[in-house]
Amino acid sequence: MVWYQPLVFSALLGVSWCTEDWTFPPGFKFGAASSSYQVEGAWNVSDKGESIWDRFTHTRPEKILNGDNGDVACDSYHLWQEDIDNIADLGLHYYRFSISWPRLLPTGFANKISEDGARYYNNLIDGLLEKGIEPMVSLYHWDLPQTLQDLGGWTNPLIADWFADYARVAYSLFGDRVKMWLTINEPMIVCDSAYNTAIIAPGILNSDHGAFLCNKHVLLAHAKAYRVYEEEFRAQYQGEISIANQLIWYEAWTEDDEDIAELAVQYIAGRYSHAIYSEEGGWPPAIEKIIDENSKKKGYATSLLPAFTQEEIELIKGTYDYYAMNYYTSRVVRAAREGEQLIAFPIGDIPDLNAVVGVRPEWPASDASPESSATFFYIYPEGIRRQLVWLKNNYGNLKFAITENGAPDVGGLNDQGRIDYYQKHLKQLLLAIKEDGINLTHFTAWTLMDNFEWTDGYRSKFGLYEVDFNDPLRTRTPRNSARFYANIIKNNALDVE
Ligand SMILES: *[C@@H]1O[C@H](CO)[C@@H](O)[C@H](O)[C@H]1NC(C)=O
Ligand SMILES: *[C@@H]1O[C@H](CO)[C@@H](O)[C@H](O)[C@H]1NC(C)=O
Repeated sequence: MVWYQPLVFSALLGVSWCTEDWTFPPGFKFGAASSSYQVEGAWNVSDKGESIWDRFTHTRPEKILNGDNGDVACDSYHLWQEDIDNIADLGLHYYRFSISWPRLLPTGFANKISEDGARYYNNLIDGLLEKGIEPMVSLYHWDLPQTLQDLGGWTNPLIADWFADYARVAYSLFGDRVKMWLTINEPMIVCDSAYNTAIIAPGILNSDHGAFLCNKHVLLAHAKAYRVYEEEFRAQYQGEISIANQLIWYEAWTEDDEDIAELAVQYIAGRYSHAIYSEEGGWPPAIEKIIDENSKKKGYATSLLPAFTQEEIELIKGTYDYYAMNYYTSRVVRAAREGEQLIAFPIGDIPDLNAVVGVRPEWPASDASPESSATFFYIYPEGIRRQLVWLKNNYGNLKFAITENGAPDVGGLNDQGRIDYYQKHLKQLLLAIKEDGINLTHFTAWTLMDNFEWTDGYRSKFGLYEVDFNDPLRTRTPRNSARFYANIIKNNALDVE
C-alpha cells in the first residue's frame, strides 16, 4: 500500500477525508497499444493489398518527415514473437493491436480472405494468449484498402456495409479468442484531420464536404459492425465492442468563454459520441444548428452535416459496451475577434464555431522534436479527468477504458518526461475513479515501442521500448519508462511520494 503523506498530514489536522491511497481498483487492467501500419512492415508480402498509407507515403514522401514510410517499420510481421516477449516482460494484462484490412482482405471486400493474413493474426493472438495476455483488437487504425479509397473511401455511404462485411470476417476468424474489440480508431483524425488539412492519407483537402460525410459514415460503419456482432456472435462469444475516440479537452480561455468551450467539446467529443451514447441519438443539437446556419451562409441549400434518417438514428444509438477514449492533450478556446484569421481544425482553430484555440502558458510542451507535428501535445493532466467527467455528465455512468495515452520525445533510454507524463495522468485517473465515481476499467499506454508516427515518420518516439530503425533486426530495448510502468502494474498502484 502506498500512502500520500501530505494527505495523511491533512487528515491529522482534521480534514474530512483521511489517508488517500493510490491503488487501482481490484481487477484494473493495464495494456499497451500499437497499430498495423505503424509496426508491421511487410507492406507487399504474399497477397496483401495496398493501403492508403502505402500509397500516400510512396507517392507523397514530402508529406512525411525525412520521407519515411512504413514499408518495414518495426517489422512486427516477422518479429511478433519478440513483441510478445516484451509485452510479457512488462506484465501487461492485454495488448491492443489492429488488423490491417488490406492484409486480411486483399481486395478490400469480403470475397477473398488472405490465408497469409489470417495466419499472421492467428499466430499473434495465440502467442499472446499462451502467455496469459488478452488481445484487444482494433478493426480500423487508418490503413484503408486503396481499392476502397478509389471508390470514395469514407465519403461513400456504402463503406458502412463494406466495413460490416470486413468486421464479420474478423469476428468469425478471431472472435472465439478476442473478447475486446474496437471498431474505428480516432474517427476525428480519420475525418476532420484528413479532409480539413490533407496532411495524412488519403491526402485529399475538402473541408466543406469531406469531414462531415466521413463523420456520418464512420458512425454508420461502427454501428453496422456492432450490430453484426450483436446479432451473429455475441451469444456465442460474449465479447465487448466500442469505438476509440480521441478527445481533446477544451476549456474556457477566460471566464467569459464558457459557452464556446462547451460548444468546442460538443464539436469534437459530441460529434463522434452523441449519436452512439446519448439517449436521443443523432447529432448534438447545438452543433447541428450551427453547421446548418453556416451551410446556408456558404450558399448551400442543405446542411453540410448530412442528416440522419430516423432509422439511422435508431441503428447507431446504443451501439457500445463501454466508452473507449484516447487522450493526449487539451486546449483553451475563445471567440475570434473581428477580422481574426482562423487556421483549419484540428491543428489550430475551429472555423465552424468562429473559435480561436490556444494553450495556457503554464502547460508544458512535450519533449517532441520542434519540427514534428508532435509539438501539438501540450501537457495538461487534469484534462483527462475533466473530459471523463464531462462524458459521464452527458452520457451517464458508462464503463470507461483509456485506449491510448502517452507522450512523445526524440529518443534515448532515460525518458523522464514520459515517466512524469504517465505518473501525472494516472494520478488524475485515480482521482476520477475515487472522487468522481468514474467507472474506469482499463488503461492503455501509447505505445509499446517506437514506430512509424504518421507525418512525423520515425522522428517522434512514443515507445516504452526503443527501436533501432538503423538495425536490420530492429532491436528493441526497454526504456526507464518500461520499468516504471511494469512496477505500477505489479503493485496495481502508483508510487506517490
Ligand atoms: C516490396 O517492397 C520493397 C520495398 O519496400 C521492394 O524492395 C521489394 O522488391 C518489393 N517486393 C515485391 C515482391 O514487390
Ligand atoms: C463498473 O462496470 C462494471 C461492468 O459494467 C460493473 O460490473 C461494475 O459494477 C461497475 N463498477 C462501478 C463502481 O460502478
